[in-house]
Amino acid sequence: MDTSNNVRASKNDAGPVVAIDGPAGAGKSTVAKAVAKIFGMAYVSTGLIYRALTLKALRMGIDVRETESLVRLAETTEVAVEPNEGECRVFLDGEDVTGELTSPEIGAYVSQVAEIPGVRSALLDIQRAIGSKGSVVMDGRDIGTVVMPCADVKIFLVADFDERVRRRVAQARERGYDVVEETVISEIMHRDKVDSGRTVAPLKPAPDSITIDTTGKAPEETIMEVAGVICEILSKNKDTKEVAGGKGDTPCFM
Ligand code: CDP
Repeated sequence: MDTSNNVRASKNDAGPVVAIDGPAGAGKSTVAKAVAKIFGMAYVSTGLIYRALTLKALRMGIDVRETESLVRLAETTEVAVEPNEGECRVFLDGEDVTGELTSPEIGAYVSQVAEIPGVRSALLDIQRAIGSKGSVVMDGRDIGTVVMPCADVKIFLVADFDERVRRRVAQARERGYDVVEETVISEIMHRDKVDSGRTVAPLKPAPDSITIDTTGKAPEETIMEVAGVICEILSKNKDTKEVAGGKGDTPCFM
């Protein structure tokens, strides 16, 4: 049986899947890392996979408009993700490139690479393989809608534009990048537009997701809020399974 389009990631036997989606600067990675630690799950940033491919394209001098070359690159590149102690390391054809992936240069191009349908389908299997192992918190743009449509918990984080920009400027400076606010404003505006407007897997909340606005909240506040939601949903799922005599899993097809 061909299982490539047949995703059964519901109430995972191997452990739960938590999907955290949302735009840049909404707080996804901070919250996802923290709740993964609280619940003893792995943390995986799917954005880093798109960023790794973008890094390779930049290194090879491939322009973001060269769609066919980028699809071929995605199909022939080995991107491996290794969740480790709350961090997520990414290997590009065997090389650990984690430290390079959050550069402003990659940020400026990644959405254009990620909007190409052939690139997305080439990178889907690796994300589903990670999710299918279960016991994982995955952050991204389309985890709850496309990658793991039957994730046990789906959170959609949002925040005001100005606050997202402030967070991104502070984060980039902490990482040692000399960024100016205007550049960050235009990068986030551009990424929001491309991510939300693309034809395949656009950024949007899954109908069964819970939207949480992080504007004006300290990270700890959002972390506790999200942890509370996860706890509530997972214990409800457990009760449902017990009532159904362990047969609570519903197959999920795309
Ligand atoms: O951390 P930040 O929110 O800035 O971005 P990221 O999660 O590292 O993702 C970088 C880019 O990758 C996004 O702006 C999207 O264009 C793309 N992406 C995607 O298309 N689908 C995902 N599941 C994750 C990221």
